[in-house]
Parts: sequence; structure tokens; C-alpha cells
Amino acid sequence: MSIDKHFFLRDHWVYDPKAPAPVNADAGRSIETNALHAGFHPYRNQADFRSFTPPLVQSVTYPYETFDQVPCPVYGRTRTPTNTVLEQRLAALEGGQACLTAGSGSQALFELIFTLARPGDNVVTSLNIFGEGYKQATDIFPERCQVVFRFVPDPADPDSWAREIDSNTKLVWVETPSNPCLFVTDITKVAAAAHAKGVPLLVDNTTATAALQRPLELGADFVLLSISKFLAGNGALLGGALVGPEGLVEDIRWNTTEFVGAVMPPMEAWMTLQCLETLPMRMQRHSINTQAVAEFLQSHARVAQVNYSGLVDHPQHELAGRQMSGHGGLMSFVIKGGMDGAATVMNSLKLIVHAVTFGTSRTICMHPPTITHEHMTPAEREQAGIADGLIRLSVGLENVEDLLTDLDQALAQLS
Ligand SMILES: Cc1ncc(COP(=O)(O)O)c(C=O)c1O
Repeated sequence: MSIDKHFFLRDHWVYDPKAPAPVNADAGRSIETNALHAGFHPYRNQADFRSFTPPLVQSVTYPYETFDQVPCPVYGRTRTPTNTVLEQRLAALEGGQACLTAGSGSQALFELIFTLARPGDNVVTSLNIFGEGYKQATDIFPERCQVVFRFVPDPADPDSWAREIDSNTKLVWVETPSNPCLFVTDITKVAAAAHAKGVPLLVDNTTATAALQRPLELGADFVLLSISKFLAGNGALLGGALVGPEGLVEDIRWNTTEFVGAVMPPMEAWMTLQCLETLPMRMQRHSINTQAVAEFLQSHARVAQVNYSGLVDHPQHELAGRQMSGHGGLMSFVIKGGMDGAATVMNSLKLIVHAVTFGTSRTICMHPPTITHEHMTPAEREQAGIADGLIRLSVGLENVEDLLTDLDQALAQLS
């Protein structure tokens, strides 16, 4: 008997800039329909049972019926039936070929870079990235893997990106709109700059989600998602995902995740499937509420600056209008009076909750300079627009008048 016990080992994926963009079979359907149907049909998928909701298969292992059978899934570190439905749904929403779920968005980023880069290689990005990503870029990867990160000095200029890319660059990484300052990067132009030098582009689509922005259609090669934010929308679930070519996704799954773990458990995947059903509608309502809050704050005498791409005087307002179908639920604003002023306002809020996440149905505020972006140097924070008086606001689905009333009374506490 000859059995290939190495069935699960895969070749390492190699980026081919000339290869046609991989397609998703459901990409022709609308986002609202894919959010409800992609990856699961109540009876066509299931030979043994019929279920209206996708199955929650809470099992770590998937037994062998015979000695030489290779079951798939085999073990919960690589694939479970429930995670597979979620992966197909997220791939369809983003219009990508395949998807890998991970224990968190930070984990998904780590696994991608860990897979693509070797000692001596570099990754090109900007300072407009989330705090844990910055820590990976400036500490974890350089110190422990000798992978260096280059921060482009002028992320609004595609040539600035092109200048940082060299023969050792394995990835260009863009977060747009960025957390916390809502900087909008031109995906098409940065993709062209990366591809001209034979390098793939990753876009972190966490703040916009596929409901408002489709980076793969704009030229990106991979999409990073924190499920913990708008995709789940409730602050109850931790998870992440990477969407991209099947060869890359399976390379990470079978050559890294299989051996280091850190997966999203089936229960979390199942709950995310329920939450995704309302994503397109939630993102529309987040956008409407945030626009109203941003306009209110912009006209307030005690607010020095408002960061939201829906405002006509946002530096990338036109670009955001071209590459997004709405401006989303995240914004930030700078209080006159620096850190003390921010503390006074945040301590005075009665309805809005002070917490470290965003994308929830309930409105949340947070102080990036002392919490998520404390690892940046003061000079880097200044370059990234993270002023001492900056408050990040994740605008929820409440009645917007109640939010304005709360913000108004809190701002009134400033002397
Ligand atoms: C833009 C962005 N991407 C990714 C992540 C990482 O997500 P997670 O919290 O699921 O690790 C975050 C977290 O704040 C984020 O803001």
C-alpha cells in the first residue's frame, strides 16, 4: 500500500506579477446577496441534513473512516466546516479567490509577512497603520526575523511609495482609510507602483469593509481584515482574515498555521456569519451617522480639526469618493486644549463609551496617543497626525441626535 502522508504539505507561493488576477465565482452577485448566501446553501451543500443556518461544527478533529483515507478537514488547526463557510463568504464579499481566517486581524497580518519575507527582505508601508501593526513593523519583525519596514515619507504621492521599493521588497502594505487619522491612500496608483517593481500589494480593508471598498478590484493583491471590528459589529468576537490567491492562502494555512495554530474557533466563525448578514445595511447607517457627527464637530468652537473623508475639505475627499461607496463609521477629531482637553471631554461623556475597539453598533471613543499608538515616537505621531488632543470616535447605530447631545454637553465642560 502506498499512501502519501505528506498530502497536506504545500509548495511555497511565489508572486507572479504577470499572472491574471484570480477570480471569485460569486463576484458577479451583489454585496447584499453575498453577505447572506455566499459559501452555503441550505440544502445544496448538505448531503446528510438540511439547515437554514450554516452548521456550527464544534469539533477539533475529523475522523478517518479507513486507514488510507485523507479526510478534509482533518484537524481544527487548519480547516473546519464552519470556518470554510465563513472563508468562502469573506472571499466572495471581497471578490477574492480564497480566504484564510485567523485568531485576530493582527495574527493574519503576522502570518502573511512571516510567509512572504525572509531575513534581509523588507516591507514598504507608511505610518498610517494600526498600533499593533506598527509594533510588528518596528520591533517584532526587525528584531526577531531581520525583516525591515520602510515608512514612505509622503504617502499621498505614489512616487514616494515607488522610491522605497527595491529588489528585497516582498510586500507593499496600505491601510486605507487609516486608523486613527482616516488618511486615504490611492490604491490604484500604489498598486501600479508596486506591480511595476514586481511586488504584491496588501490593503487593510478593516475600516471600510467590502461593503464600502473593494481593494482587489482597484488593483490590490491581498486584503487584510480584522473581523473584530465592523464585520462582527458588536465587540463580542475576535477574529481576522486574509483574502487573496488560493496558492498563497493555502501556503499560509498548510505551511504556517498548521504548525503554529492561532486560529479562529468555529463558534466565533459561526457567530460572524450571523453578523455579516447585516453588514451592508449597518455600514450605510454608520456612514450616515458619522457624517452628521463629523459636520457637528467641525462647526464646534472647541474642536481644532476633524478627520473624516466624508467632509468636503478632507485632503483626500475626492479620492475617497472615487474608491469608496461611502465614508464609513470611523472618524477622529482634535480637541483644543491638548491631552487635558481630550481627558475632560472623554470623562464627561454619558452615553458614548470609552473603550479600545471600533466598528461596534454602540458608539465608542478612545485616545490613540496614550493607548493604541503609544509605541510611536512623538515625531512619528506628529507625522501621522496623532496629536495629543486626538480622540478617535467609532460612531454607532444610535439615534444621531442622542450622540450629538452627548458630545455637546461633554464639549461644554471645557473651560
Ligand atoms: C486597521 C486595523 N487592522 C487590523 C487590526 C487588527 O485587528 P485585531 O484587533 O483583530 O487583531 C486593527 C486593530 O485595531 C486595525 O485597526
